[in-house]
Amino acid sequence: MAQRSVNELNKALEERFHNADGIKIIAWMSDIHIHTDAGYENDISFYQHDVDSRRQFALALHEIHSLRPTPELLVLGGDLTDYGRPEELQTVNHILRNRSWSIPTIPLFGNHDNQSPPIHPELMAIWPEIRHADWPEINDPNELYYSVTKSGLKFIILDTQQVNSYKMPQRQKEWLEAELQEMGPNIIILCHRHQLPVGNWVDEESIFRDREVWEMIDRTPNVLGIFSGHVHAARLWQFRRKLYGTFPAVAYGIGDNTGWGGIVLQGDRIAAVFKKDLYGESCDMNSGLHTQAGHFRFMDAEIFQNHVLCNPCYWPWESDPSKRD
Ligand SMILES: [Fe+2]
Ligand SMILES: [Fe+2]
Repeated sequence: MAQRSVNELNKALEERFHNADGIKIIAWMSDIHIHTDAGYENDISFYQHDVDSRRQFALALHEIHSLRPTPELLVLGGDLTDYGRPEELQTVNHILRNRSWSIPTIPLFGNHDNQSPPIHPELMAIWPEIRHADWPEINDPNELYYSVTKSGLKFIILDTQQVNSYKMPQRQKEWLEAELQEMGPNIIILCHRHQLPVGNWVDEESIFRDREVWEMIDRTPNVLGIFSGHVHAARLWQFRRKLYGTFPAVAYGIGDNTGWGGIVLQGDRIAAVFKKDLYGESCDMNSGLHTQAGHFRFMDAEIFQNHVLCNPCYWPWESDPSKRD
């Protein structure tokens, strides 16, 4: 049945893109929150009782592998682990390697993976052993950020860890500026935490809102879009010529179903963005356990400037041009 639910998406891609000739798909899955069976004390999270995150992850991999055309890349968009423990990352790696497939992956750290820099020494210690051939080495003991050029695009991977209030550390910021200034192909930015609000409580808790970083990205004409996880919900904004997308979570939703997503490329442009619900049992933090049919939808971009979430307290230079400094 999970396979059948992906077939509906495959059919829609075929119809929309004329037999899907010439399109490429970048698949996204995040917020897997892998936990293991033992070793947790009293701080066990609500979903650890209700959700088998290993099953959810394996199901998401199965569904993504059934997609046609086969994705060029799979972004592992952060919160891969629940507590950033080495045994959790080992489990992620074990499930990934236990499958006979060859889709290259791009890993990101989320706030659950890199909770309190520096990166956990035990996690640093196992990285060389679990690292896939196309994964980067960790060059900065505090953060995982890097860029890769694949499928005719440059992907810039940021570490939007939850420290220093909402500010990106200077070293990563300088690196990002140099990456953005380099002449080259169109760019897609991948980061765990979202830059524009989506309307659930995660906005208040931990939106990534470093204005300097936002402006750096905004003024770079060949950045097509910024894609994130973290909010456990899907939303797509168009804001000043760029797309800002968030994808659903694999482990549990927050006012949304569990699922994964995809960015459809035609040449070096983004032609569509979609989300796909996982088939079967699911958990929503707001409404509890339920069963999903595994539907998909193409996400139509909403215009951020026209929306009530374009809050002038956060975005004064948008609502009143005289406040632009
Ligand atoms: Fe998460
Ligand atoms: Fe997160």
